[in-house]
Amino acid sequence: MAKIQTKLTELLGITSPVVVPAMAFGSGGKLAAEVSRAGGFGFMGLAFETPDQVKQELATARSILDVPADSTLPIGVGYIGWILDESEPKAKELISIAFEHRVRAIWLSHGDNLGKWVGYYRELVEKTGHHPLLAVQVSFPETAQVAIDDWKADIIVAQGIEAGGHGAAEGFPLLTLLPLILSKAGPNGPPIIAAGGIATGSQVAALLTLGASGAALGTRFLLSPESLYSDKQRQVILDAESPQSVRTLAFDEARGYHNWPKYVDGRAIRNATYDDFQKGDDINVIRQKYAAASETEDLDRVVVWAGAGVSAMNKVLPAKDIVQELHEECLSHLRGVNGLVKS
Ligand SMILES: Cc1cc2nc3c(=O)[nH]c(=O)nc-3n(C[C@H](O)[C@H](O)[C@H](O)COP(=O)(O)O)c2cc1C
Repeated sequence: MAKIQTKLTELLGITSPVVVPAMAFGSGGKLAAEVSRAGGFGFMGLAFETPDQVKQELATARSILDVPADSTLPIGVGYIGWILDESEPKAKELISIAFEHRVRAIWLSHGDNLGKWVGYYRELVEKTGHHPLLAVQVSFPETAQVAIDDWKADIIVAQGIEAGGHGAAEGFPLLTLLPLILSKAGPNGPPIIAAGGIATGSQVAALLTLGASGAALGTRFLLSPESLYSDKQRQVILDAESPQSVRTLAFDEARGYHNWPKYVDGRAIRNATYDDFQKGDDINVIRQKYAAASETEDLDRVVVWAGAGVSAMNKVLPAKDIVQELHEECLSHLRGVNGLVKS
């Protein structure tokens, strides 16, 4: 596989700018490791896992990547700010585990107190001598500025409004957001990873020519058997068209998760829970129906988080093949661009 050289691939020492983002309930140790093994870079997402479960995921990743215990584990671990805020002792334990397991990067997002957790991360860097890179996912140029100037983030993930899962309810389309963040970062700033609605290598190439150093594809990698999605959830994504991917609070309300920062909602495939919520049905009834549907994984009611790129996703492939396909398509489009310039 020919290398694609960007600030991100240089920083991480990888061949491909293809990244699987942190996805709670979507990317575990297996998916993250397979993407890193294939030449890209994988983040696993954490939500409500116990410390033992996290250690297990990290052990799985280490065994897939076949790296000795005292060497850096070339994957990242993603933490959601508001969940960290729920219990300081547990949050500290979970972040410490990533250091003990010598992960290559830490990813923070979706919290009103991310600065506090950046502070704890810095304490651990000081205490342990291990220095995972700090990636921060943002939806606004102003937050990118804070992450670059105040938190000294090593990597910024620019999340457009097309992104599956949680993000800004009233944010920016990726093609608008990325140049705004690039101008905040400046030529000597950290690498920027673009995220949101990306499905193909041609889109990755377009984003690289715009100035991104990498592309994070969440929903596309959910369509690999290594993701934490079930076959039924994958089928919903395969069957869905992009207009069915909607931003909503319906699923968080139905599940009773209220602590997302005020500006956040989530993007998922619309179903009966969404329709009832839009109609203004009694939330208690919606919750009861949701709880019952969860028992049988009835996806006419249960959430399938997915981004706006679903129309361009039509097959399940092993994660390593997705990396390879995206990389080759990207290369071919980058090479094709040369033909546009006539001197
Ligand atoms: C199932 C799922 C879970 C997600 N969980 C997280 C998470 O834990 N932390 C986070 O920062 N972003 C999370 N996201 C958002 C992703 O990091 C990323 O921005 C998004 O997947 C990119 O859009 P795409 O899915 O259209 O490729 C999640 C997305 C999905 C689809």
